[in-house]
Amino acid sequence: MSDETPPDPRAATDGGADVEDADDVAIDPWGSSTIADYRRLFEQFGIERFESALEDVPDPHYLMRRGVVFGHRDYRPVARAMREGEPFAALSGFMPTGDPHIGHKLVFDELIWHQQQGGDVYGLIADLEAHSARGLSWAAIDDHARDYLLSLLASGFDPEEGELYRQSTSPEVQDLAFELGVEANVSELQAIYNFDGETDVSHMQSVVTQMADILYPQLEAPKPTVIPVGPDQDPHVRFARDLAARVRYFGVTEAYASFELDPEERELVAVAHEHREAYAEDPERPRCVEAAAWLADYETGATTVRDRTVEKLENAGKEPLRPRVRVLDRNATEAAFEALAEAVDGEKRVYDAHVDAFDLSYEAAVSLAREVEIDHGGYGFRPPSSLYHRFMTGLTGGKMSSSVPASHISLLDDPEDGYDKVQAAATGGRETAEKQRELGGEPEACPVYELYAYLLAGDDDEYARRVYEECAGGERLCGGCKEEAARLMREFLADHQEKRAEAEAELADLDLDLDLGVADGH
Ligand code: TRP
Ligand code: SF4
Repeated sequence: MSDETPPDPRAATDGGADVEDADDVAIDPWGSSTIADYRRLFEQFGIERFESALEDVPDPHYLMRRGVVFGHRDYRPVARAMREGEPFAALSGFMPTGDPHIGHKLVFDELIWHQQQGGDVYGLIADLEAHSARGLSWAAIDDHARDYLLSLLASGFDPEEGELYRQSTSPEVQDLAFELGVEANVSELQAIYNFDGETDVSHMQSVVTQMADILYPQLEAPKPTVIPVGPDQDPHVRFARDLAARVRYFGVTEAYASFELDPEERELVAVAHEHREAYAEDPERPRCVEAAAWLADYETGATTVRDRTVEKLENAGKEPLRPRVRVLDRNATEAAFEALAEAVDGEKRVYDAHVDAFDLSYEAAVSLAREVEIDHGGYGFRPPSSLYHRFMTGLTGGKMSSSVPASHISLLDDPEDGYDKVQAAATGGRETAEKQRELGGEPEACPVYELYAYLLAGDDDEYARRVYEECAGGERLCGGCKEEAARLMREFLADHQEKRAEAEAELADLDLDLDLGVADGH
């Protein structure tokens, strides 16, 4: 960690494996929103650490610098587009089940930051999900929807540059959901979300709707798109990445002969091809059998893969081993496949359901395949990327929960109540002032420090760092520290609410129907 960066609050919410639901294997988007063990997200679910992408990001947001944004999937294409001034998008959704609170503010800020970096940014109200998965009435949904939108606007979202919508009134999203639903079946939803025979159909429909939300920014044209969310939403992100690939017209792989290889096998064949001088009678035309004989003696830890690969090579007999890029027909129309075959430059071989190209790079084949797909009416989706932020610890020490008012600060809380809640918050302090001076406090286990790091210090890294160091060094005592935070919270809420009032007019100008509940009373 560099000198300018304040201490990373991640330890505060790392929880350790002893917290509740440590043994759950699935991440459940409709379950508790605590993530017991962030490490498992990396090891078991393959989320990447955000640190690894941070250096690619121009002028990162403080939530990124401070490790509040801790993980990502495939964020690099988004960062690259940002750096190179190419189009990119960001989208997130909010379930209107209660008041927006300071945890949601993180996501607002992430969206707004991407908008300021030049992205096309979308915010949506997940009202179909709130109605089907949470059973909220449409009248309640309308009220909460309005509150989320006002807070998003008050936080700085520019509705002229970006787009706000609600799931239930977007025909584009619903049509796309229907289309994506063709590729998703019930067993799969059961496996991903623990759905069972009792799960209602509308809840399933809300899942394909979320898939459509995630891909909606690419409907006009494919572009790198990031979905900033809590890690509980990762199953949705993975599924959306999967569906995005399934509707593609073509798949692109690298091959060496007529048969298909998995990535491990491909690596070995690449080694064999590289060593062709060592065994081929004619190194210009190494034969598959020759490569097989050489590879059979190749030292590797992965002997099963090797044996499998050797067998494939043997079966291909005298066929020459020759690197090529293969474009496979997945969902292409006949016309699209023909157009692709036509468009491949240089030496090629056209089969029933694939084309082998000998003079095309992998990257060139990928963009060609996307171009042809789009020209022929396909989506050409790029797999959506994601960012994951830490959940804030509740002010009372446990998890922050919308149903426990003292545990969170609503963006609608009276500023004085906000002040009081911070004053009453749990801390990472010692039992006595003396001990605190002697041992220092524990900012990494302190919900009040989190308030500074996630929100109250704003962009001022130096301030967040000072709070941390003064606390850990025993110079800062909890009474004064909470007073300072409580005042900042009061100020923040008063300011936010003033901006909400100003945003009323902006909201009224938007073409959004916020009175769905009036007519039907469900
Ligand atoms: N499922 C999300 C939640 O529970 C809400 C949501 C709906 C969403 N569509 C989305 C989030 C698309 C991100 C992207 O809060
Ligand atoms: Fe938390 Fe502040 Fe007390 Fe440190 S001094 S433990 S940061 S309240």
